[in-house]
Amino acid sequence: MRVLFVCLGNICRSPTAEGVLRHKLREAGLADQVEVASAGTGGWHIGKAPDKRSQAAAKQRGYDLSMQRAQQVTRADFSTYDLILAMDNSNLSDLMALQPAKGKSKAELDLFLRRYQSPLDEVPDPYYDGNQGFEQVLDLIEGACDRLVIELKGRL
Ligand code: 4NP
Repeated sequence: MRVLFVCLGNICRSPTAEGVLRHKLREAGLADQVEVASAGTGGWHIGKAPDKRSQAAAKQRGYDLSMQRAQQVTRADFSTYDLILAMDNSNLSDLMALQPAKGKSKAELDLFLRRYQSPLDEVPDPYYDGNQGFEQVLDLIEGACDRLVIELKGRL
């Protein structure tokens, strides 16, 4: 199984989701069976490490994001990944526009929080916010990743 998280810049929300899911998969003993990655719909930050504020907030909860480097999502990702999860509705519509024609895409595309019955449908973009935004991102992502791990267990 391969899972790809997608946000706008790939320096705040989707790298956080990648780090949290990877950690939870290790705890569940599924790290060898699920590959996790993240990407941005935009290319401004390609090659950069996650935002320092995301790294710091994640580290406080035991997630190390420091080795990640931003990349931009491509049409080919729809053939590589089984599940592509968008952080907000704008990311989802950009991905729908990029998606190959029906029948030519292996990936299932969905809105991350909505799929896992989170209190919110979208992970708010924390980039222009204070530190509180980064804590909320982590809270939402941790909750949804718990449900995602249960789904993955059932599908493996
Ligand atoms: P992300 O946050 O999509 O969660 O990585 C953003 C990072 C950078 C920008 C926007 C959102 N930006 O405009 O540079």
